[in-house]
Amino acid sequence: MSFRPGTELTDVEIGPVAHGGHFVARHEGMVIFVRGGITGERVDVRLTEVTRRFARGVVTAVRAASPDRIEPACPIAADCGGCDFQHVTPAASRALKAQVVAEQVRHAVGWEFDGEVEEVIPAPFGWRTRMRYHVDSRGRLGLRGHRSHELVPLPAQGCLLAVPEIAHPAASTSPSGEVLAVAAADRIVVVDADDADGVVTEQVRGRSFTVGLDGFWQAHRGAPDALVAAVLDGLAPVPGEVAADLYCGVGLFAAFLEDAGCRVLGIEGERTAVNHARRNVVGGQFLAGDVAVLADRLPLAVDLVVLDPPRAGAGAAVLAAVVARRPRAIAYVACDPAALARDLRTAAEAGYQLVSLRAFDLFPMTHHIECVAILKPS
Ligand SMILES: C[S@@+](CC[C@H](N)C(=O)[O-])C[C@H]1O[C@@H](n2cnc3c(N)ncnc32)[C@H](O)[C@@H]1O
Repeated sequence: MSFRPGTELTDVEIGPVAHGGHFVARHEGMVIFVRGGITGERVDVRLTEVTRRFARGVVTAVRAASPDRIEPACPIAADCGGCDFQHVTPAASRALKAQVVAEQVRHAVGWEFDGEVEEVIPAPFGWRTRMRYHVDSRGRLGLRGHRSHELVPLPAQGCLLAVPEIAHPAASTSPSGEVLAVAAADRIVVVDADDADGVVTEQVRGRSFTVGLDGFWQAHRGAPDALVAAVLDGLAPVPGEVAADLYCGVGLFAAFLEDAGCRVLGIEGERTAVNHARRNVVGGQFLAGDVAVLADRLPLAVDLVVLDPPRAGAGAAVLAAVVARRPRAIAYVACDPAALARDLRTAAEAGYQLVSLRAFDLFPMTHHIECVAILKPS
């Protein structure tokens, strides 16, 4: 059989979940990453992309459904690139994500993750406090299609992932073609993406944080609290300790390490975020620039380190600079379990082992997962 985009395959068995929101299936020797299925189902698949090594496809009909299958709540779920798992019960989708985390860390460092992906309220809908909508020439708001630049117009109910206040902002013309909608603790802001130079205030555990409108802030309404709790729990800071918050944004973790009595140093690449961090955490010291370059400027002895890198992970150079300070504990906050797994392996080779791993469903209905790994000297 020749495989090409558009080829329809009948009665394909869906295999295990893979990292990235799809499932692995095999058909006449071809590996296919299928979207819209569930392990164990028999489905028909239309191929959307074919390479020499694998193909991608979407489910077009379900012949034998999984008991975990449900009707998506959003009418654009299949086309919009935002959701991967609306056809799966929330509990089953967390179990699938737990399998992804387990597979990654088992492969990298032989760790058996038998925990669950913890639900964080609000869930599974109405959690996202930052949205970027695209606007077409008729002023309609929409989201990008899956692996496509095409705009999928928002349905009447708006985006179910967004907190209700920004689920369906009024349609408008937008010079940049993109609208940023932010539901912060102090106000709701909807602006053209090119006009996002203001600030908002967020509240976490009684502390206020100034954040740039288009600056980084954890997207899930419950994320800051859940992650701060997990990091403090894992590090157990002691007053007088020196703590480094690397990739610190506006100083979320630094703030609570300071409250725990630590002397805090943060490094962050976005200069505006660093300026906010200096005001949000007045007793902290903050450096602006690439962590890979500035980590060497950390004091020679550091007791605690928080690493919260972007999706690519921290990488070997940063880990080398961190472990050279012989911290008592490292909290690695990771939005990509594959990058986390790579860095865990590097840390293990440098003498730091994983002692606990928690995973949080901070992106319900999508394949994304947030992990907090605690590492200590082997
Ligand atoms: C996942 S966010 C975490 C921010 C903060 N810890 C929080 O929870 O709000 C990652 C942060 O790393 C910053 N960043 C990305 N690459 C960087 C680099 N190479 N050096 C320094 N900071 C970087 C981004 O600007 C962003 O603020």
